[in-house]
Amino acid sequence: MCGIVGYIGHRDAYPIIIKGLQRLEYRGYDSAGVALYDGTDINLAKTKGKVEELKGKAESSISLNGNLGIGHTRWATHGVPNDVNSHPHYSNSGNLVIIHNGIIENYESIKKELIKRGYSFSSDTDTEVLVNLIEEVQKTEDVKLGKAVQIALNQVVGAYAIAVFDRKKPDEIVVAKLGSPLAIGVGDDEFFIASDASPFIEFTNNAVYLEDEEMAIVRLGKEIKLRKIKDDAIAYPNIMELQMNLEEIEKGGYDHFMLKEIYEQPRAILDTYRGRLLADKGIIKMAGIDQHLEKFTNANRIVIVACGTSWHAGLVAEYIFENLARIPVEVEYASEFRYRNPVITDKDVLIAISQSGETADTLAAIKLAKEKGAFVFGVCNVVGSSIARETHAGAYTHAGPEIGVASTKAFTTQITVLTLIALKLAKEKGKLSKTEFHEYLSELENIPGKVEKALESNPLIEIIADVYKDSTNCLYLGRGYNFPVALEGALKLKEISYIHAEGYPAAEMKHGPIALIDEQMPVIVIATKKGHYEKVVSNIQEIKSRSGKIIAIVTEGDKQVKDLADHVVEVPETIESLTPLLTTIPLQLLSYHIAVMRDCNVDQPRNLAKSVTVE
Ligand code: AGP
Ligand code: GLU
Repeated sequence: MCGIVGYIGHRDAYPIIIKGLQRLEYRGYDSAGVALYDGTDINLAKTKGKVEELKGKAESSISLNGNLGIGHTRWATHGVPNDVNSHPHYSNSGNLVIIHNGIIENYESIKKELIKRGYSFSSDTDTEVLVNLIEEVQKTEDVKLGKAVQIALNQVVGAYAIAVFDRKKPDEIVVAKLGSPLAIGVGDDEFFIASDASPFIEFTNNAVYLEDEEMAIVRLGKEIKLRKIKDDAIAYPNIMELQMNLEEIEKGGYDHFMLKEIYEQPRAILDTYRGRLLADKGIIKMAGIDQHLEKFTNANRIVIVACGTSWHAGLVAEYIFENLARIPVEVEYASEFRYRNPVITDKDVLIAISQSGETADTLAAIKLAKEKGAFVFGVCNVVGSSIARETHAGAYTHAGPEIGVASTKAFTTQITVLTLIALKLAKEKGKLSKTEFHEYLSELENIPGKVEKALESNPLIEIIADVYKDSTNCLYLGRGYNFPVALEGALKLKEISYIHAEGYPAAEMKHGPIALIDEQMPVIVIATKKGHYEKVVSNIQEIKSRSGKIIAIVTEGDKQVKDLADHVVEVPETIESLTPLLTTIPLQLLSYHIAVMRDCNVDQPRNLAKSVTVE
């Protein structure tokens, strides 16, 4: 996720680009840059930090003239956030300059080939490889920029929204899209390029949204020429008249960032396993694990430290690691671990999970474990964050920026990364047959589509939310893999609707909580077909016999629970250890709708912060 902006037309490009980047900053904000063509030269400024820092640097160091330019606000995936890795990136000749949103999965092999052909690289990014591949194609095929981009992109695997221009032909910008969003604003003899319409909505509400595997040459005085990247077929631009206002656009048309991020989960999960899950080859590729495999396979145990939702992801991982890889796992609150003088040695591996990568308790737990000789591995969503830099190795979730304080896509992408690690270790340790391993890999590839299906229950969940929005207490129950999901569902409700909620292992009801059950108590029970289903059905019957109100999350097609529960929400069937990726979806939506109905501040709940960088 990041923000791209471009302009070609009769106005000064710089003010449009810098303001556009400020509007896109919510999409990614670890570094930013701008490149302008002033009629003779390309003037480029870029820096680590926010757009505000870029503004200061650009306005004090480069010429701001010119009516052609591109700009970028970065959410790093390859190469830590710093000046050199920020975009735009030059090609070796200095003639081409590019900005890119996405991930080039096969950039390493392309980079090796380009180095053999004499190219050099100043950054660690996949993007700099792409712009030099385009340059190499221009040279070897003797073609113009548009054709060179098309040929180059047919050699690329991954996701992109790119804008690139050539100082030798400064009357056009070439754009292309696959997997990341790209809109072209169509004005009177001017064109705008952006990740969404927010940078150009004040200038024009006519927009063309590129489809996947489409590219366009945007040239002054000409109609937009759309091409299919694969077969050069002409595509005709569908110019839409936008009605949305600026605020709606930043949230992608959703009312809140949290809802947008709930709906981004299919793409976020896909981006997280992209380039790592190679089902057709039957392998999982994770550099951070591959380079330290013996640490994991020889470990006495794995200790997972985290806070809040990340701690819940750790609990899911405990079930997955122990069940699949047969490695002992302990999950600890980082805030407790750091102070209880834990027994941890160099025979242990510590996995720290953190969306922000800045949580003080988790960071402190890491430092303590390192002092005691443990190998420390990080699972973070922010490249170059403190935790990412403090750990010996790690694997990033590629969820993109999570703006809503309530963590949603971070949770499902953390589980995705941890599942990949567990599967990799299970295979390595011979705990999974080749067939079982393949089954997991191909089912993981089905998960984004099954999350999409789970999201279709949103209207039903909104109706259920209306029934229970005035509750004062709520219980969440789950067994096995879904016990941590029950905890997570309760946390979601608590933190954004301020209703007291507790999660419990379903079997724990009879050890106390059942005393709470009456007709005022809604009980959310995760009762999917896999994993102690009959036991959970008995728990539902216990609740029903005490007049509790039951909202059951079931596997699609379930009949038995349907006859018992007051409300039933279906999720698609999947392998038992992957059910948390689906059962959490209705719980996220339920908490969201109840919070909205209670007029709570969904994206910034009271008393909370997105990243708890203090004790
Ligand atoms: C979850 O919705 C909360 N935002 C909170 O519990 C969060 O998970 C916790 O503070 C940990 O944050 P981290 O993942 O950035 O370390
Ligand atoms: N993969 C590119 C990088 O890490 C682009 C990341 C983004 O979408 O901002 O620089």
